[in-house]
Amino acid sequence: MAVPRHVAIIMDGNGRWAKKRMLPRIAGHRKGIEAARNVTRAAGDLGIEVLTLYAFSTENWRRPAEEVNDLMGLLRHFIQTDIEELAQNGVRLRIIGNYKALAPDLVALIDGAIERTAQNSRTTLVIALNYGSQAELVSVMRDVAQRARDGNLDPATIDEAMIDNLLDTHDLPPPDLLIRTSGEQRLSNFMLWQLAYAELLFVDTLWPDFGVQSLADAVADYGARERRFGGL
Ligand code: FPP
Repeated sequence: MAVPRHVAIIMDGNGRWAKKRMLPRIAGHRKGIEAARNVTRAAGDLGIEVLTLYAFSTENWRRPAEEVNDLMGLLRHFIQTDIEELAQNGVRLRIIGNYKALAPDLVALIDGAIERTAQNSRTTLVIALNYGSQAELVSVMRDVAQRARDGNLDPATIDEAMIDNLLDTHDLPPPDLLIRTSGEQRLSNFMLWQLAYAELLFVDTLWPDFGVQSLADAVADYGARERRFGGL
């Protein structure tokens, strides 16, 4: 059965998971990190080459400062505690999004982790951080417009491959399968260009409850679908 090369996940429902248990939202995020950890391990075992997790969007800055701080703290902690295991398990870390705008110490940690895992090739873990698809596309458009204005680019030569090459994801295959948890059915400004032919799967499970079996079920669901890419 076909295994998706690239699975992208919108991890949703941490807040509701916590609320159901009368816990603070951060407890849901903490449990969400655990789910991310388990799913990353499982991805390698299932033969998934690339796993992209939407951890923080350009719109998430609108949350209360306390929650933003908590999320950044958890991310810092995750990189510190998990990077060694990830490295030993053949995981290569990549980031998409404008992570350079985050706190300098976090940027340094992330850059260290990227470097530490750069030679790995079993699974690529892509974390979308301060990522928004529209911002990514605007940046590509600016780049293209600037080159044209400088006289280095004939607009007639702009094609899909050129745009692909300018995206944060330039060195990654497009997602074959997008999963969103918690019953919401939206893309929320996530990989709008890259998801053009992806299979979409919306599951009711809240992200903290999404485990190894949930990922295996999603892969089986994908395997049963017929993809035609606009053909017959
Ligand atoms: C959605 O739950 C989740 C987020 C805002 C992203 C946070 C993700 C994690 C903590 C997992 C991190 C993973 C890695 C790899 C660092 P929500 O707060 O929107 O839930 P709600 O809709 O129920 O309120």
